[in-house]
Amino acid sequence: MKLSLIPYPSSITYLDGFTRSDARVIKITDTSVPKEGFCVHIENTVTIEASDAAGFYYADLLIEQIRFQCGQNLPNVHIEDAPKYEYRSFMVDCCRHFFDVDTIRQMIEYCAKLRFNVFHWHITDDQGWRPEIKAYPELIETGSKRIGNHFGKEQNEEIHSGHFTQEEMREVVEFAHSHHMQVVPEIDMPGHTSALLASLPGLACENKLVDIKTTAGIFKDIVCAGKESSYETLFEILDEICDIFPDEYIHIGGDEAPKQQWKNCPDCQQRIREENLKDEEALQGYFINRITDCLNSKGKKVISWNESLNSGNLSKDVVVQMWLDPKKLSKKSPNRLIVSDFYHRYADYPYAMTPLKKVYNYDTDINNNVIGTDIPIWTEYVYDFEYMQYMCFPRYIAAAQAGWSKNRPDYSVFKAHLKELLPWFGIENCAKESEWDPPTASRIAKVISHFGAICPNENIRNYFLNKE
Ligand code: ACM
Ligand code: ZN
Repeated sequence: MKLSLIPYPSSITYLDGFTRSDARVIKITDTSVPKEGFCVHIENTVTIEASDAAGFYYADLLIEQIRFQCGQNLPNVHIEDAPKYEYRSFMVDCCRHFFDVDTIRQMIEYCAKLRFNVFHWHITDDQGWRPEIKAYPELIETGSKRIGNHFGKEQNEEIHSGHFTQEEMREVVEFAHSHHMQVVPEIDMPGHTSALLASLPGLACENKLVDIKTTAGIFKDIVCAGKESSYETLFEILDEICDIFPDEYIHIGGDEAPKQQWKNCPDCQQRIREENLKDEEALQGYFINRITDCLNSKGKKVISWNESLNSGNLSKDVVVQMWLDPKKLSKKSPNRLIVSDFYHRYADYPYAMTPLKKVYNYDTDINNNVIGTDIPIWTEYVYDFEYMQYMCFPRYIAAAQAGWSKNRPDYSVFKAHLKELLPWFGIENCAKESEWDPPTASRIAKVISHFGAICPNENIRNYFLNKE
């Protein structure tokens, strides 16, 4: 019998005969096995070799999958496996709509089974600031609440609020670690900062009231990169963030920061002159580099979205997360890269735009600098956990396979394995098979229905449909 396995292993050799499911399990530490990798040999006994705890954990998951489909008699088999990428991430946006710790724990449980080893936690944005910062209680008092929700089909003037206490965030970190997962918090700056600026107006270029946003979009209110006090405040906030999140990386955003306010701000213009910067894009490079220096001095590595590359002066130490045109942009980047191309990896887009097959077949091997992949769920149009699960699964499963497997089988094989293993993954509200790859004829209508009142224009719809 051929086994259904997700992620599919690097090598699998079927041997003669069968071994009882309750056979003795022997675990051997072997330092020659690659990090997170394992070797499983089933023949009279079940023998696992690994060099670290994650390797043993992943081997146990693999054996669970085999037991699930084989019952009493396991086929004798020799399997060797190790991850393609060291960084295998999924992201949840808790700002556009707030999702609580129970949701996060459930997502971590689902995603650990997929061998994701990073939870990228998007906790600050224009529509809400979520992490408690003890030095600045205003961030929760003001920044975590908005009045009004204007996101597609959701149109109302109700209060939407939510935040994470430091204790809750530490619990999430501990829970993730128990699933061999790091937590990377994203504190987005200098753009996507309306909730920050509404709470701490002194960080803006102009000292005037900024609203917490109640719609999707890109907003002009960004942190002043001229005033020294902006850096001082951000360093204090990041001090607390580093204390709560002990892992390797901090994500500092850097995406979608319109530069109009910096063009009109005397402090930003003075900074450009004093630092001999070419323009406002270079000022973003200066800003991100300064935050990076601060975080590096605390022992952290930094991730920024690809817009920071437009500066032309971004530090090589920054890991760049590519959401736009990775193939084109990577040519001008010597930086290490995480790939999360939005055409192929944004799980908040409807299946009509991003069918399962498109997620699965996407090749993230852009160049040798790629350290991994991320699959985000942005939540402007994701109002509850049931819908989040439907949007993420099984697309997160396809992305996980692409991030782990060096030896990825054809989509049709993956799909057959997926159908057999779906009950094992135990996802309560996974999308049904009929939704995974909608027929082309129905896709435009589904895209329009998904976006409701703010459906993107004809060009955008056609672009998505034509760009597989
Ligand atoms: C992004 O989608 N603005 C990273
Ligand atoms: Zn300014």
